[in-house]
Amino acid sequence: MDQIEVFCPGSVANISCGFDVLGFCLEPVGDLMKVTKTDKPGITIGSIKGQGLPKDPLKNVASVAAMALLEAHPSSFGFQIDIDKRIKPGSGIGSSAASAAGAVFAINELLGKPFSRNELVQFAMAGEALASGAAHADNLAPVLLGGFTLVRSNQSLDIIKLPSPPDLVATVIHPKIELKTIHSRAILKNTVPLDKAIQQWGNLGAFVSALYTNDYGLLSRSMKDKVIEPYRAMLIPQFYKVKASALQAGALGSGISGSGPSIYALSKGMDIAIQVGEAMKKQFDDLELEYEVHLSKINNEGIKIV
Ligand code: HSE
Repeated sequence: MDQIEVFCPGSVANISCGFDVLGFCLEPVGDLMKVTKTDKPGITIGSIKGQGLPKDPLKNVASVAAMALLEAHPSSFGFQIDIDKRIKPGSGIGSSAASAAGAVFAINELLGKPFSRNELVQFAMAGEALASGAAHADNLAPVLLGGFTLVRSNQSLDIIKLPSPPDLVATVIHPKIELKTIHSRAILKNTVPLDKAIQQWGNLGAFVSALYTNDYGLLSRSMKDKVIEPYRAMLIPQFYKVKASALQAGALGSGISGSGPSIYALSKGMDIAIQVGEAMKKQFDDLELEYEVHLSKINNEGIKIV
């Protein structure tokens, strides 16, 4: 095999109670990436459709991740990466993770799969670190493994795939403003008051338990963020109104998707998820702010060959 095309899905990180450790994979929204073997060793970026991203291999998230893989597994030939970038950078649904995961997944296939999907996370992290200034795997893990994932440690990359309750549907609204992760991380405090930390780890533990037991009520009670959301909410127009309208329309929970500006909600069933989307839209319509809405089941498969 000399060439491969992969679908690199978007993802929602944090899920309110799991900053930098929880995430789930989206189904309909994602990039397409074509990777071709070349005689010349090393990584080159070919065409980039959709967004203006750097072609310099040292500055592009996909090539930086690919180079990390090749450092661990040197190859006598090289690879050209062509990207159809459909996830807008700075949207909050894992744009850089999709690029980084796509590159390492595709090259791994072309090399005859020397690494497992779980092992690929460590190489993709190099791309994620370039994009956000901090290496965290909460978007990469669901993209590479599918479904819900928990990163027990971002250092040793101890990653656990969690079950997905069958009726969950995500609604994600993306207001068309760009918010760079590096900036929305810069406003966070380095310390957490003990009372807030207690609430957060209670919610995180309960959330994981609810996924195993299909307990939608417990899931709903757990999707709270006492630590990060209060700081980041101010970066997103009408955040609290959009969230309140989602909950009023029947969502189990709602919050900032990753580092924003997208806002996600999880609902039980597609009908409610659609109503939630309509309610969220209304808030941005009132502001005359452009947006797009994604409705998505939990994508249990993750990144895939097309
Ligand atoms: N956990 C990350 C954050 C996700 O919220 O900053 C975005 O890359």
